[in-house]
Amino acid sequence: MGEKTFYVTTPIYYVNAKPHLGHAYTTLVVDTLTKYKRQRGVDSFFLTGTDEHGINIERAAEAKGIPLLQHADEVVDEFKAAFGRLGIKYDRWIRTTDAHHEATVRKLWTILEERGWIYKGNYEGWFCGYCNEFKDVEGEEGSPLCPIHQRPLDRVAEESYFFRLSEFQKPLLELYESRPDFVQPDVRRNEVISFVSGGLKDLSISRVSVKWGIPVPNDPGHTIYVWFDALINYISALGWGNDRYHDFDRYWPALHMVGKDILRFHTVYWPAFLLGAGIEPPKMVFVHGMLLRGGQKMGKTLGNAIQLEVLHQYFSNDQIRYYLLREVVFGQDGEVTYQGLIDRVNSDLADGIGNLASRTLTMIRNYFDGKPPRLRESQNGDVSEVIRQIEESKKRFDLEFSVLNFSRGIEAAWAGIARVDKFITDSRPWVLAKDPAAREQLETVLAVSYEALRQLVLLVAPVLPDTSLELWQQMGLSGEPLRINPNETIWGAPVDVSAIGQITPAFPKMDKGKIMAEIDSSSATPSSGSLSGDESKKQESPVPVASRTSAAAGPSSPPSDKIGIDDFAKVELRAATVLEAERVPKADKLLRLVVDLGEEKPRQILAGIAEHYAPEDVVGKKIIVVANLAPRKLRGLESNGMLLAASVGDEGRPVLATFGEEVPNGARLK
Ligand code: MSP
Repeated sequence: MGEKTFYVTTPIYYVNAKPHLGHAYTTLVVDTLTKYKRQRGVDSFFLTGTDEHGINIERAAEAKGIPLLQHADEVVDEFKAAFGRLGIKYDRWIRTTDAHHEATVRKLWTILEERGWIYKGNYEGWFCGYCNEFKDVEGEEGSPLCPIHQRPLDRVAEESYFFRLSEFQKPLLELYESRPDFVQPDVRRNEVISFVSGGLKDLSISRVSVKWGIPVPNDPGHTIYVWFDALINYISALGWGNDRYHDFDRYWPALHMVGKDILRFHTVYWPAFLLGAGIEPPKMVFVHGMLLRGGQKMGKTLGNAIQLEVLHQYFSNDQIRYYLLREVVFGQDGEVTYQGLIDRVNSDLADGIGNLASRTLTMIRNYFDGKPPRLRESQNGDVSEVIRQIEESKKRFDLEFSVLNFSRGIEAAWAGIARVDKFITDSRPWVLAKDPAAREQLETVLAVSYEALRQLVLLVAPVLPDTSLELWQQMGLSGEPLRINPNETIWGAPVDVSAIGQITPAFPKMDKGKIMAEIDSSSATPSSGSLSGDESKKQESPVPVASRTSAAAGPSSPPSDKIGIDDFAKVELRAATVLEAERVPKADKLLRLVVDLGEEKPRQILAGIAEHYAPEDVVGKKIIVVANLAPRKLRGLESNGMLLAASVGDEGRPVLATFGEEVPNGARLK
């Protein structure tokens, strides 16, 4: 901490799809972080917005049959409404169709051109309109498919302006080297370093065939490439290069929060543009993982996103925010399900903070006429243990939040909740209340619980903004938790409290069976516990392969060079997604992978594929793993399974086995 100002951004979202939980994820995290910083007195600025140019938007508007800007306006309204409904409070919304943004883009282009970083040439290659990216794929005939979207790529052969990205290899590597925090977490930093170390090609930054965009200064037949245009939002929104705002000197450089899908744009292209123009690069790019459903990235491409309307029908904003921050380790991929959300609500919110608040306040109402008793000087060992734990929770919460480890920070706060709960249970105030001689002891128990609750409600306010205010009012306290700095709130300092307000349970228990049945029957996008459209189709296929085989082979005595079905059944093959990958130092062939097999915890697997696959090529891939192989150690690291690959050609080049359609992690192959 200790910084004077804090500027944080989300990606700006394409206006070619409705907002879903994936978009809300980054925005909710950034909102929580901003609330956290502000609560601690840091002058903060939170930017979000929309990316409105390019071929994918052109196509979306065409499909609707309405003018481009009208289409963009409509989707912008949907995004704003969705974020507003989630209780997100951004400071500015940037649109790439804003006049001041366009002015900044032209200005930056002109500076880069004047400095000799832009030249005109010819481009020929394959382009994905959904990624907005040229793809390095083979094949001149027929359209190859985008490896991400599985849709045909467009062949582009036209005059184009280029940015001399190739000249930035050294400066970029120096940047990553001198500022290890520039790209975080480390797995992403390593990925980027290895990509840039492999050499950079000049980047095509204009298109003749795309009309919907900002014209190139002095050459209006060319339209500026959307990513060049979009990245600049982070400074146009502050008023760099335009007269609309004057916040650049106050807030730049930024912390950019982005998903791993757009890593390269933010950690390679963007700092190169800035370095080229002589502008300070961002403070940090923090790259988070993907929300998954059934092991696949949630999003419009697969149509498997959790719809916000369904969520709002059953869950409050605080429940949604808490679940995402607590459940998914920030930086890693995480599976999200309605069941998981209900479980967290019941165990952490209802049984955790909700229960602590209602039992404390109810006893104060019943035994002390609603007037919280004062803390006394003399405190026994148990009380100081509670105080120590609260201090510890506050310290660890800050420590973890300062490195964006939200789930750990929340865990630390909940350790405080659990400690106070135990203190109440051990002290048995309901027994003390029956004994007039134990009045003083009863006072201490409830005074300590009340004070601990006050500290904890303040601490968790950025994560539970609505509930913290409700609880604060139930506790009879004035002001708003989000405006009170927990670090300036000393244990036991006198507080202005008259009497507690009306007590209502903050988080009533949810009936999981009932809610799941409702969601499953009503929702077009079912929970992960039920079958999605595709999966149910698969179920209808005639006979499972294994039973067909066994019927044909007969139950016993396979010929000696063949194995029986029972032998095959011993091998447990399962679908998995690679979450992380990195080279193993001093082992040229080995990659260390962390894979999600649909189990409680991801597994580590070592694979001898490093000579043929770069770490960034395998992250996100769906693979097949031998799940029941005995663990073994390689280079001091334990490998818990083996991945399947074909061995191709004389040199036995490995080619990873994968699937032709969506398969959930953990699905058994048989
Ligand atoms: N317009 C570009 C970004 C330009 S930034 C200068 C873009 N837009 S997007 O609409 O596709 O949004 C991508 C971002 O949305 C991801 O980087 C991530 O922040 C968020 N997410 C979208 N789906 C997501 C998940 N399934 N999980 C987590 N975040 C997701 O790319």
